[in-house]
Amino acid sequence: MQNHRWLRTPEGTAPRISFGADYNPDQWPREVWDEDVRLMKVAGVDVVSVAIFSWAKLQPGPDTWDFAWLDELIDLLHADGIGVDLATATASPPPWLTIAHPEVLPVTSDGRVLSQGGRQHWRPTSPVFREHALTLVEKLAERYGSHPGVVAWHVNNELGCHNAYDFSDDAARAFRAWLEARYGSIAGLNHAWGTAFWSQAYGAFDEILPPRLAASYPNPTQQLDFLRFSSDALIDHLVAEREVLNRISPDIPVTTNFMVVGGTNHADYAKMAGEIDFVSNDHYVVEGRDELAFSAALTSGFARHRPWFLMEHSTSAVNWQPVNRPKRPGELIRDSLTHVAHGADAVCYFQWRQSAAGAEKFHSAMVPHGGENTRVFRDVATLGGILQDLSDVTGSDRAPADVAIVFDWESWRAAELDSHPSEKLEYRREALAWWTALMNAGIRVDVVPVGTPLAGYALVIAPVLYSVPTALKESLEAYVTGGGHLVTTYFSGIADENDHIWLGGYPGALRELLGIRVEEFRPLWEGEEVALSNGTTGSLWSEPVDVVSDDVEVLVRYENEGELDVAVTRRPVGSGSAAYVSTRLGVEGIGALLSTLLDGAGVVSELPEAIRGSVELVSRQGANGRFDFLINRTDDEVALGEGDYLYGGPTLSARGVAVRRA
Ligand code: GLA
Ligand code: GLA
Repeated sequence: MQNHRWLRTPEGTAPRISFGADYNPDQWPREVWDEDVRLMKVAGVDVVSVAIFSWAKLQPGPDTWDFAWLDELIDLLHADGIGVDLATATASPPPWLTIAHPEVLPVTSDGRVLSQGGRQHWRPTSPVFREHALTLVEKLAERYGSHPGVVAWHVNNELGCHNAYDFSDDAARAFRAWLEARYGSIAGLNHAWGTAFWSQAYGAFDEILPPRLAASYPNPTQQLDFLRFSSDALIDHLVAEREVLNRISPDIPVTTNFMVVGGTNHADYAKMAGEIDFVSNDHYVVEGRDELAFSAALTSGFARHRPWFLMEHSTSAVNWQPVNRPKRPGELIRDSLTHVAHGADAVCYFQWRQSAAGAEKFHSAMVPHGGENTRVFRDVATLGGILQDLSDVTGSDRAPADVAIVFDWESWRAAELDSHPSEKLEYRREALAWWTALMNAGIRVDVVPVGTPLAGYALVIAPVLYSVPTALKESLEAYVTGGGHLVTTYFSGIADENDHIWLGGYPGALRELLGIRVEEFRPLWEGEEVALSNGTTGSLWSEPVDVVSDDVEVLVRYENEGELDVAVTRRPVGSGSAAYVSTRLGVEGIGALLSTLLDGAGVVSELPEAIRGSVELVSRQGANGRFDFLINRTDDEVALGEGDYLYGGPTLSARGVAVRRA
């Protein structure tokens, strides 16, 4: 995202928050299309994503092409003012391709070849797949690249959703080339991977394989590099498609849909965001409302707080969880508006019309099996109207907060590798606990990838920041000496970018800044808790912390815990500070500590005391002013008071949202 480039809008259309869905009319007879367009107008739909899984229909054989249906469809939608986010259709190869070229099929770490019959069964590094995919992209770009109805290009779909990790011979070849570019020499690789261990030293790049199923723990740096390489392979595919699109249709912006949701971490989205014109995300409610908001805030972090496109979410139940419950009344609208609050300027669903056949027939859609006379469709149409009422918000940035949570893909992956002090550690869970505790305190928070400038933040929380290369160490030191207040936790500062330990005691790279030293980790058994002096408890992890700098304040101690004493510290550094939390406090424990940390950084809630915790506040700021989104986190009514409301207010219904001018 060198320069943010938003959807092309037909001349004369006023800016608005776009609304729509993945649209799969190839699943339906022609007469249904007219009914679809009628209902899209009822719902206020102005954009749909088309042809995502249409490769087999567009190219039914190696030398046969069928664009007639897509010509007709795009014309039909365009005539009715509905823009097309046109997919490159490369997400799922047709059967003829994988039968003719089984060498495009991905291979698992234990050597099994994945079959056709599902979707996305292709190797990101397969030259054969790449060639076929780019031919298709070229045909589509040539045919539709100047169609006024095409508002954006949608590269592939959820890159890596099912095929991120491929251990095939193609992957092995590409991995070696990637390693050679990274390390330059085999000696460089041997050093980085620490191969003077278990007889792992390599004599040449040709000897290297992906971390296939081995007899014991595979080399950790090899694992990390394979994760990085696999993400880069997806980005390489994205760039290859984008280059074709840019060459043939330079006026149409290019996006691809991320999966910033739950535990999905196969692609480095901070890096991927640099290759597209605007960020898109797919989000499904997997862990409740706060996770949705956290993911939306992180998506905004990847978008550098410019508007982004919510490419998919669900109107109600999905089909892929063990038990798939519908959304409760109010949740459809609240979930969508939460994304808008965090910067989404387009709100789209998977999918427009619920399928009658196939693996996703029980996945909700904008038009359910029951048709238009359903609660879901009525809510959808209501939401379409609300989004039009919020047109003034369009184009605004998500307004910066005083507090940031730093979210680090490298630490996430590295901290959760095998053979560590505890396999129970979950990177994201710690970050999410801080988010929830801050929401409970009524604080607005940004979630930003490592590398985002921090100087503007009063308080920065970097939980489980395991991987700290020298440059990051220096930037955190500069942040604190510049007056910033940093909080970090257990298992931070441990290793460099090669996963080599920072020696001399933990928390390694951050030891001096924090003024403490830890000799051994003391992870806790499952269910074990340690009592703390502020009346809360720690779980998962503990550490005997030695204070080594005179100026360190002890904020919380372990109580009656043998060799454990100091639990939470803070070291003042000029007008800034560096605090350390040596155990997992959980939402409640963080809540008990938070006022000390917030006061120290001079951060105060912008919400009246009575509604702190009940309401999430998110703001957007742009040419039309500043807008506060007030989102009810509870199932009770919340009184907000008078204000200049664009939508909702002055009382929030259960799970309701209000938007007002600040
Ligand atoms: C075994 C092996 C050692 C070492 C230890 C670790 O005993 O022989 O090389 O891996 O396990 O506990
Ligand atoms: C993903 C895919 C969609 C659909 C949805 C279902 O997000 O991109 O094609 O399968 O999941 O939730």
